[in-house]
Parts: sequence; C-alpha cells; structure tokens
Amino acid sequence: MKGVILAGGTGSRLHPLTRITNKHLLPLYDRPMINWAIEAVVKAGITELMLVTGGTHAGEFLRLCGNGQEFGIDLLSYGYQDRPGGIAEALGLAAHFVDGEPVLVMLADNVVEGSLRPMVEAFRADPHGARILLTPVDDDEHLRHLGVPTFDGDRIVDIVEKPEHPASKFGVTGIYCYDADVFDVIPDLVPSGRGELEITDVNNHYIAQGAMTYGVLEGFWGDAGESIDAYYAVNDFVRLHGANKG
Ligand code: G1P
Repeated sequence: MKGVILAGGTGSRLHPLTRITNKHLLPLYDRPMINWAIEAVVKAGITELMLVTGGTHAGEFLRLCGNGQEFGIDLLSYGYQDRPGGIAEALGLAAHFVDGEPVLVMLADNVVEGSLRPMVEAFRADPHGARILLTPVDDDEHLRHLGVPTFDGDRIVDIVEKPEHPASKFGVTGIYCYDADVFDVIPDLVPSGRGELEITDVNNHYIAQGAMTYGVLEGFWGDAGESIDAYYAVNDFVRLHGANKG
C-alpha cells in the first residue's frame, strides 16, 4: 500500500501567514505541520510515500524532508500541482507513483491524536472501493466547513461538502483509503463552485457504487488549515497532548 500526502493549495484561510510560506510548513508546536502528517502515515505502516505540493514554496519541502530516511520512509517521491485545482486533482498527480496499489491519502493539515493503523489495516484486509474516516463533531458551525455524511441506518448514502444544514453530527476527515480505480474516477470529475475537483465528489462516486466503508476516529482530530482559530486550537492540543499516539 502506498501513501500520498497532499500539501498544496493557497492556504487563503490563513492569510497573511500563508503569503510568505506554504500552510503545511507553518509550525505546529515543535515542528512544521507536514511532519505530523508524515509521521501519521509512517506509523500506520506505510513507507512508500508521495508528497504533492504546489505554489511558490515547493522547494522548502525538499529541504525539510530530503529523501525521507530521517522519517523512516523507504521511498519518497514529490509531485507538483501547477495550479490550485483541488484535492482530487492533486491526488491525480500520484497515479503513476501509486501504480495499481491501494493508497492511503492524507491532507497534510489534518492532525490526529491517535493512530491511522486501524483504518489502514481494515482497508488492507479488503482493499477494494474506498474507506473514509469520520470524526464526531457537535457544532453545526464547524460542520459547515467540512464534508458531512448523510446516513441511512449505519450506511452512508451521500456526503455534502460544506452543507448549510448538516445532515449528521460527523465530519469527514481528510484521511481516505482508495483502490487504484480512484485514478479512473478523477478525470471524469467536474469542477465545483469553488473551481476545484472535490474529493467529496470522488467519495460520492464510491458511495453510488456501493463501494464505500468508513471508520470513526477515536480521540482528537483537527484541520489546522480551516481557520486561524483552528490553527491555534490544533497547536494548543498538540503542545499539551502530542499527536499520532499508539
Ligand atoms: C477538505 C474536504 C472536506 C473535509 C476537510 C477535512 O476540505 O473537502 O470534505 O471535511 O478537508 O479537513 P477543505 O480543507 O479543502 O476545505
């Protein structure tokens, strides 16, 4: 199984901090944000990894991560997204790297207290379709910034991106497992209202095929890129409690 970490985007929600660097290079406690995502993926047992970035500070990732050995990575590849075309478009750049294997995808601004290993092991046991990770979210205002699933019983029947009226109390984290068919889905996507190829559209494709499973994450989850307040909330959590435990 391969890993793809997505670290592109304009980071507009963290302006002006992100005018001078890539969001994923900003500090989270004692290291750059991207380091936590890499650690999460490596601790889940994946050591062949591609880092996709974009924009004006891509070179800094090479300086920070090098050949990946320091992180316990056996093979580290880099991809460059030459326009902010969305998460799904960025993932599409990893097609050759993934080369037919199942893949764990992680948005580099997502931080977890616990381990991604249970999710990866569940997908390895049946590496077909897609598997997403949900997190319980109580606050509707927070849910309006996320992808939110609609359930029929315990089955997900739809995901709505940034819904005005959230249909459940779960957010879709930026942590996904896919089979290699995902690279056939991406070219058929249509840009959303924000002009991006949405990962939620990829997930809805798998739901429509009846090929979506999910797990619910235990412990803290945060998206440090969601807003300046979220950035600081995640920073505070990680400073006090750490991340990627277990
Ligand atoms: C993305 C996804 C969204 C998900 C979120 C998690 O949102 O589109 O479904 O809930 O990541 O971090 P974005 O950060 O691009 O607004």
